[in-house]
Amino acid sequence: MTILSGIQPSGVLHLGNYLGALKQFIALQNEGHAYYCIVDLHAITVPQEPEQLRQNTLSLAAMYLAAGLDPQKSTLFVQSHVKEHAELGWILNTIATMGELERMTQFKDKTSGVKGQGSVTVGLFDYPVLMAADILLYQPHIVPVGEDQQQHVELTRELAKRFNHRFGETFRIPEVRLQKEGARIMGLDNPNKKMSKSASSPNNYIALTDDAETIKKKIAKAVTDSGTEVISGKDKPALTNLLTIMSVLSSKSIPQLEKHFAGKGYAAFKKELAETVIESLAPLQNEYQKLMGTPQTLKKILEDGAHRARSVATKTMEQAREKIGLLK
Ligand code: AMP
Ligand code: TRP
Repeated sequence: MTILSGIQPSGVLHLGNYLGALKQFIALQNEGHAYYCIVDLHAITVPQEPEQLRQNTLSLAAMYLAAGLDPQKSTLFVQSHVKEHAELGWILNTIATMGELERMTQFKDKTSGVKGQGSVTVGLFDYPVLMAADILLYQPHIVPVGEDQQQHVELTRELAKRFNHRFGETFRIPEVRLQKEGARIMGLDNPNKKMSKSASSPNNYIALTDDAETIKKKIAKAVTDSGTEVISGKDKPALTNLLTIMSVLSSKSIPQLEKHFAGKGYAAFKKELAETVIESLAPLQNEYQKLMGTPQTLKKILEDGAHRARSVATKTMEQAREKIGLLK
């Protein structure tokens, strides 16, 4: 089985990225060959400070490895190192429609509040087409992502089918793979919106690099629902979110946790939750610190990864070029 996914190097990773994506990436590397991409060309669809972008790219590589990615088993690489991503992105642009892209909810979210289209970049609009190229180049069977990316994977399937139909079988149609629990972690300060690094307050998220004190403080401040019992449910979005986090990290089911906290109240729950988060992140944080001290090793891993990725991407690209009639 071939697996492909990507994460943007646009700042800190948070618990939502970990539970919705990264944790699943690591688990999947034993089920087939995985390609994990650091999508720097996606990151620049919003303004980035050049030096910071370089730093974020290395730090995301360190985070993948710290979380358990084994560069012998999986291919870890930087999107812009494999030029075929941009090339296939362009070709897919010629079969994707404006209407299709206008329907993407992430684009609508990112541009809501912006008056007129004058300041919205073409790159931001076109983002899902580049993502389709990332995926289709590697002919993956599955694409593990958080729920917010599901619509983009559906568009990818649609574009692959359209291309195959028009020009002949070229791309495998990939399946989306969502986590059963944790596919959509909500903000700690607002359980009705997903946890996000672009949130206005750092109390929205727990960064994977937050220290123990910060984690305790953020969880203590997390909003809860009315009532006193630690229970999940449709009318308890905040508690459901916190219980989900605890459940995935502790491998205990939500009903088990509800039983454990029966009669104990929110303060006791938050205290244990903070301990669970701190303990779960500690090994990852230690490893991350070590890796960040060896940038040359990180760069070597990314170079090897790009080399392997390129050998697959060029093959797919050759077929695509041939099918559409580009002169050899
Ligand atoms: P990004 O940081 O936007 O590149 O996202 C990287 C991965 O994390 C993608 O697979 C997202 O679907 C996933 N992800 C981002 N935010 C969340 C969240 N709040 N809950 C679950 N998964 C998320
Ligand atoms: N758009 C994804 C996100 O923001 C990142 C991404 C880019 C991706 N290319 C991809 C995810 C290919 C999966 C496969 O999370």
